[in-house]
Amino acid sequence: MNTSAVHNPPLLQVIEMTHFFGGLRAVHDYNLTLMPGQIRGLIGPNGAGKTTIFNLITGIHTPTRGRIELEGRNLVGLRPHQIAASGLGRTFQNMLLWRHMTVLEHVRLAHYAQLKYGLAGAFFGSRLRYAEEQRVADNSMRLLETFDVARFADQIVTNLPYGVQRRVEMARAMATEPKVLFLDEPTAGMTPEELVQMIGIIRKIHEEFKVAILLIEHRLKFVMELCERIQTLVFGEVIAEGTPEEIKNNPDVIEAYLGKEEVA
Ligand SMILES: Nc1ncnc2c1ncn2[C@@H]1O[C@H](COP(=O)(O)OP(=O)(O)OP(=O)(O)O)[C@@H](O)[C@H]1O
Ligand SMILES: [Mg+2]
Repeated sequence: MNTSAVHNPPLLQVIEMTHFFGGLRAVHDYNLTLMPGQIRGLIGPNGAGKTTIFNLITGIHTPTRGRIELEGRNLVGLRPHQIAASGLGRTFQNMLLWRHMTVLEHVRLAHYAQLKYGLAGAFFGSRLRYAEEQRVADNSMRLLETFDVARFADQIVTNLPYGVQRRVEMARAMATEPKVLFLDEPTAGMTPEELVQMIGIIRKIHEEFKVAILLIEHRLKFVMELCERIQTLVFGEVIAEGTPEEIKNNPDVIEAYLGKEEVA
């Protein structure tokens, strides 16, 4: 019997997940064991299937076959909002932010998915509602500070620089206190300074919130610096998995991916 598995159960486990879009096999027999608080990376060339893996785990697509379990509970077949409520937060490769809302409104609104006072409280203004509203306001400002966007609180988010928008999207994802955070290319469009800042922010939220993170990223410096383990995906299949050092020196990875990427 594997006793370590009994004492140390994985937070998120994906087993032999496969997905077809029509005749295209986008993901083939993908496996993942994510432990509580772990930071892992997913790299691979364009079209390898990285975003599809996120979309399968977060319920946007249903896998053709395979299992996905969060703390031993099945996620396959649940709606995206149910999966989000069970503890998975995410950001999107093409940011999904609302055009006419301020930074603070984005983060405040995200809390309402888990408010506890219910419809009656909303109508009759219960004391519980007041306490919850206060908690949301405090927590929202704390998140804005953590992500270094508090000074933009009252600005319309889509008018702000790209790097700031990415941080707002991440603050919104953290509002529901996820157990796992999925980040799809969080440094896309960022300046080198913003990238260095983002490394610091991810380290900080990892420590402060004890959240496990799965990171898709093209900038290898970023992945290598943050992640304990990295998977390399090519044509929907994991061709290598290991520590940053192992991945950097793996001839298959160099051949299939690193040779073509900017190692910066
Ligand atoms: N909704 C969809 N319908 C049909 N095909 C899709 C769909 N989403 C993705 N694909 C295809 O699946 C494959 C994997 O795409 P995916 O977006 O997961 O790649 P990726 O690794 O995230 O790439 P990138 O680095 O460019 O973001 C591609 O061939 C893509 O065209
Ligand atoms: Mg993608």
